[in-house]
Amino acid sequence: METVLITGASSGIGVALADCFAADGARLVLVARRNERLQVVADDLRRKFGVEVHVCAVDLADPAGVRELCQALEQRHLNVDVLVNNAGFGILGPFQESDRQLQLKMVALNVAALTDLTHRLLPPMLARRRGGILNVSSVAAYPPGPWMAVYYATKAYVQSFSDALWYELKATGIQVTTLSPGPVKTEFASRSGVGSLGLLDRNAMSAPRVAQAGYRAYRAGRRTTTPGWGNWAGTILSRCLPRALIAPLVGRIQMRKRTGPNRKPD
Ligand SMILES: NC(=O)c1ccc[n+]([C@@H]2O[C@H](COP(=O)([O-])OP(=O)(O)OC[C@H]3O[C@@H](n4cnc5c(N)ncnc54)[C@H](OP(=O)(O)O)[C@@H]3O)[C@@H](O)[C@H]2O)c1
Repeated sequence: METVLITGASSGIGVALADCFAADGARLVLVARRNERLQVVADDLRRKFGVEVHVCAVDLADPAGVRELCQALEQRHLNVDVLVNNAGFGILGPFQESDRQLQLKMVALNVAALTDLTHRLLPPMLARRRGGILNVSSVAAYPPGPWMAVYYATKAYVQSFSDALWYELKATGIQVTTLSPGPVKTEFASRSGVGSLGLLDRNAMSAPRVAQAGYRAYRAGRRTTTPGWGNWAGTILSRCLPRALIAPLVGRIQMRKRTGPNRKPD
């Protein structure tokens, strides 16, 4: 039986991805900080699909949290076949006015924890010559993102790292896929200090639809997927236009999303 570890599985895209893998009969390991929320998701999956679900409540922005998670996997004799690096958050607002600790926490979660977990869980996959990694990136991976500068940079890292790893592991039987969504209706916007997305709100996709696209791309052995034609076209445009042109365009969109002061730490 396939064992799938999903980070950020207490809400949004993570919950929807857990549904996709559970429908396939996989054993799941759900990871996030809010234990009660994880338990609710786990009970729901057990009831709906009759699958085995483990829960591990840790703060992945803390390297000790990643170590704790890996120790828990060892203690429970769980060999992870599929690692889904989904946990992440963003911060909207002028960089110089933002909370430094929170920006660093975002880098720790979106970049360091994803790298650390991949580095720890990949060797056993390689030894078994089986498994894969599904990393949740974003359309934000492609252009620079004024007023959300660090978040966009973290997603550029996720995309570049995953694409490189996809090539490195091509001949090993280990699949690497990135899911790069545009706006999705989850807790992400409110937690990032994003108010109404205006036009983008109307185009925002549901978490199940985005998760299905990512799941199908992973199963089909694809390198990357950007659900929605508009989002996909946006990534092409971001890569074709000079950065001096795309930065003001993206900056204008970000400014419109801003409704209040910078987000404060959880
Ligand atoms: N929503 C969008 O518009 C959108 C667009 C493109 C890409 N994405 C990406 O999609 C991914 C999932 O986001 P979402 O939209 O589903 O947002 P969400 O509903 O806010 O979910 C974020 C998940 O990450 C977990 N998390 C946050 N901080 C954590 C920490 N320190 N340690 C462990 N887990 C942590 C949260 O759980 P706890 O709070 O319980 O820890 C939650 O389960 C993110 O990587 C995001 O960048 C989102």
